[in-house]
Amino acid sequence: MKVNLNKITMNETIKTLLSRRSHRDYQDKSIEQEKIEQIITAGKAAPSSRNQQKYLIKVITNVDLIQELAQESKRLLNEKRPEISLREMADPIFYQAPLLILIFVEKGDKWAGINAGLLASNMFNAAWSLGIGSCYIGLANILNQSNLLKSKIDYPDDYELMTPLIFGYPKSDQVPVPVRKSDNVEYV
Ligand SMILES: Cc1cc2nc3c(=O)[nH]c(=O)nc-3n(C[C@H](O)[C@H](O)[C@H](O)COP(=O)(O)O)c2cc1C
Repeated sequence: MKVNLNKITMNETIKTLLSRRSHRDYQDKSIEQEKIEQIITAGKAAPSSRNQQKYLIKVITNVDLIQELAQESKRLLNEKRPEISLREMADPIFYQAPLLILIFVEKGDKWAGINAGLLASNMFNAAWSLGIGSCYIGLANILNQSNLLKSKIDYPDDYELMTPLIFGYPKSDQVPVPVRKSDNVEYV
C-alpha cells in the first residue's frame, strides 16, 4: 500500500535529504573552516568496503587553483570531448565555487566508485544541513588526463580522481527541482 508522504511529519534528516539540490551559483564567500571539517567528518562516517576507507580526500580552498583546474578541464573537454557543449560562462566546470573537494581512489579497486559515492553523498547532505550548497562535477574527471592535476596535487601513481565535488553558499534557493521518475520502484 502506498503511503501519502505529504501527510507524514518528516524528521529533519529526511527534510534535508529531500530538499538538497545541486547548486551551481555561489555567493562570493568562503566556507568557514569549522564547517569544512564538519562536512569532511560526516563524509568519513559513510560506510566503506570492509571499513578500509581506501580513499584520499584533497580539500582545495585556494580559488586561484580551483580556477586553474576549471580552465584546464574546459580546455581538455573542448579538445577531447567536443560533443559536450559547455555552458557559456566564465567557469562552466566548477561554477566559481569557493571549495573543491577531490576524492582519489585506487585504480582498479572494484568498490572505489561506491566508497567515494557514499562519501560524497554524506558530504552533500551534511553541507546542505549547514546551508551550504554543492554539486557533483563528473565533467572534471577529465583532469585524470592532465599533467596539471598531478603537478598541483600530491597523490600516488596508482590512484585516480574519482569524485570532484564543489561547495559554496548558494546565491538563491530558487533552484530547479529535477523530477524523480515514478516508474522505477516495484514492491515484489
Ligand atoms: C555522477 C554525477 C556526475 C555529475 N556531473 C555533473 C557535472 O559535471 N556538472 C554539473 O553541473 N552537474 C553534474 N551532476 C549533477 C546532476 O546533474 C544532478 O545531481 C542531477 O541533475 C539531479 O539534480 P539534484 O542534484 O538537484 O537532485 C552530476 C551528478 C552525478 C551524480
